[in-house]
Amino acid sequence: MISKSYELRLDRFETVLSALLHIKESLDPTLAVRYSCRMGVCGSCGMVVNGRPRLACETNVYSLGSAEISVGPMEGHPLLRDLVCDFDEFFENHSSVNPWLVRTDVEEKFSSAKEFPQTRSEQDQYLPFANCIKCGLCVDACPVANTNPAFVGPQALSQALRYNLDSRDQGSDVRLELLDRLEGVWGCEFAGSCSRVCPKGVDPALAIQLLKLDVAKHATGRAA
Ligand code: SF4
Ligand code: FES
Repeated sequence: MISKSYELRLDRFETVLSALLHIKESLDPTLAVRYSCRMGVCGSCGMVVNGRPRLACETNVYSLGSAEISVGPMEGHPLLRDLVCDFDEFFENHSSVNPWLVRTDVEEKFSSAKEFPQTRSEQDQYLPFANCIKCGLCVDACPVANTNPAFVGPQALSQALRYNLDSRDQGSDVRLELLDRLEGVWGCEFAGSCSRVCPKGVDPALAIQLLKLDVAKHATGRAA
């Protein structure tokens, strides 16, 4: 990989993303960087900054405590160019766990008046896992995902739990059966690096351990 150095004068409120955009505007218009919201919502500006996967738009340059900042692409996703990675496989893994509300009653689809109220405590079950912005930092940090491309990964697994915990969902049996395999929950070695880098506090490592319990209980129930 070719590395390049640039010198910039930055004020204390700059982020890594704004520094990269200065480079792109005034020093190197060919630099490829992906971003959209600039406020930690869209999940598109993930990269490795000073050796750690981070969102460039949420990383203040001064908070890094160094006059030299190294920036590179995430290594857990295929590289397209410069700082831009290919997320096709990431989104395939995400979709593979049915990350949507599954309902078994076909009739209710045609009833526009049907409502599914939830209590606050029912919402509290899944909300801690519902803040995922699909930035892929957890997958980049995961040692298993980096060595076993078949592993579905911490993002997809945390989202499987998010929907399993939703009182409106009826798809948990299928998800638990899908994930009862080495490339599913049993691939996780509980390194915990996914949770350390998640910018939204989703805690995929906790989600996967909870999911392992549910998968084991479900498998035992099926065998009985
Ligand atoms: S779980 Fe966290 S780190 Fe992983 S994709 Fe979602 S927001 Fe990003
Ligand atoms: S640009 Fe949207 S999260 Fe960084």
